[in-house]
Amino acid sequence: MTELAVAEIKHTHWNGNVYEPSDDTFLLVDVLQEYARKWESSKPRCCLELGCGSGFVITSLALLLRQLASPVRAQLLAIDHSPAAAEATAQTLRSHQVADVEVVIASLFGPLLERLQGSVDVLLFNPPYVPTPDEEVERGGIASAWAGGWKGRRVIDRVLPLLPKLLSPTGELFMVTVTENEPKGIIDEMKAHGFQGRIAGTRQADEETLSIVHLWREPLAAA
Ligand SMILES: C[S@@+](CC[C@H](N)C(=O)[O-])C[C@H]1O[C@@H](n2cnc3c(N)ncnc32)[C@H](O)[C@@H]1O
Repeated sequence: MTELAVAEIKHTHWNGNVYEPSDDTFLLVDVLQEYARKWESSKPRCCLELGCGSGFVITSLALLLRQLASPVRAQLLAIDHSPAAAEATAQTLRSHQVADVEVVIASLFGPLLERLQGSVDVLLFNPPYVPTPDEEVERGGIASAWAGGWKGRRVIDRVLPLLPKLLSPTGELFMVTVTENEPKGIIDEMKAHGFQGRIAGTRQADEETLSIVHLWREPLAAA
């Protein structure tokens, strides 16, 4: 089967204030590329990337959905709290002729949380996951792209409790983690909230072991 195309680095924009696409970015996109054909049957209607940075991931998702045998026309959203990242994402989308992604500047889901309730079918998140002193989290500037505080979990642990409210009944999350974030522990913790999960991909990169946590809801037991 032919490989579906993703965004091209030569058409991707970033600068000193925006996270440069790195091994974590590429692992997430590789996992999405491998998984994409499953969306031919599940037909997601609303897809969102939290923390879009350069826009490489959301642009790749938009391109993947377009290339499916039965193309998926979903509402596509990209959120970042950094105006520089939002601008870079908009430029990267334009450079790939992708016009159907709404780019929003907000911290976490901001005012969209209420509007999106129960409707997100695909949520992508490459969070600030590096263990750092807590004071460094969301201090502003480019450090907020990676500084994750205690166990690298401070931002991750603000997002996980929102999943039951945010995701649709068939909604799924693909999230980048490193070993220090305890990816298998995250999957176990989310079982109590009705989710099941797997590690969808791993990669060794410099000093970090990256894993993609894939979570989705347990099917409801038949009455
Ligand atoms: C590790 S970078 C990932 C960037 C891009 N998605 C990628 O994979 O290359 C994390 C991104 O999350 C954004 N971010 C961090 N905290 C955030 C928050 N509270 N709300 C929204 N975006 C946030 C940062 O600005 C940064 O662009």
